[in-house]
Amino acid sequence: MNENIRNSQQISKLCTEVISAHTKAPHDIIVFDEIDSTNNYAKKSASDGALSGTVIIADRQSNGRGRLGRNFISPPASGLYMSVILRPDFGVETAQLLTPCAAVAAAEAVEALSGCKTDIKWVNDLYMNDRKICGILTESSIIPSSHSLDYVIIGIGINVLSVKNYFDAELLAVASSIEDECGVILDRNCLCAEVLNRLDELLTDIESRRFLEEYRRREILTGNLITATAGGASITGKALEIDQNANIVVELGNGTTTVLSSGEANLCRLKKD
Ligand code: BTN
Repeated sequence: MNENIRNSQQISKLCTEVISAHTKAPHDIIVFDEIDSTNNYAKKSASDGALSGTVIIADRQSNGRGRLGRNFISPPASGLYMSVILRPDFGVETAQLLTPCAAVAAAEAVEALSGCKTDIKWVNDLYMNDRKICGILTESSIIPSSHSLDYVIIGIGINVLSVKNYFDAELLAVASSIEDECGVILDRNCLCAEVLNRLDELLTDIESRRFLEEYRRREILTGNLITATAGGASITGKALEIDQNANIVVELGNGTTTVLSSGEANLCRLKKD
């Protein structure tokens, strides 16, 4: 059977009214069949004055963007590609908590609706059975005169239906979807509403850092030997902990520790003890 037909029959169409019916707080929700990138559209909307809480969603993205300049492959009728515009009243230091906070919201939502264990890999990836099923790209704009936040865009991409016919073998070795990992087909409208509900709730007291407890419980690098790149340099060491600012603390071979706030980190080998 043609996979596109199978998918479009099995997965319901994205619909503003259905999403709104399931959200606890009101959101302006704009749905596209196709767009280059929901983050691009959200940034333009935010610059044009869109309200905090506005959500941009697309059935497919022709130029979905990931971290570090990568593509985020976004096939039709398969995934949830959403960007949330926020106008936070906190400072730029707290803004670095938004990505891990969104990761917890997305992990909780996926797990609540699928019933499948969902892990977090520092800093912003969700994993099921050691394969990535979700990535988050947070982008912000700062007002130069006051150094305060104008807006933040939280872009969340979740692979919902099977990606087997869209990803090549190399990508399938590391990335997957909720359907491929646990055989559950989620309704994207319900999943979107659940992510928004969890995000709204966690954001109300983000500065308390309470969400970090849930982040740490799900984080898979901590306690393991990892390789990491940050600022162009590559390091290897044992990931000790996620600190109060959601940085990862790494113990290097010479016994010193280093704290990474961003970059890329990967598992080197599993802990033996
Ligand atoms: C990553 O894994 O590096 C981050 C991926 C983020 C993808 C989402 S999909 C919705 C939003 N629009 C984009 O262009 N990117 C984000």
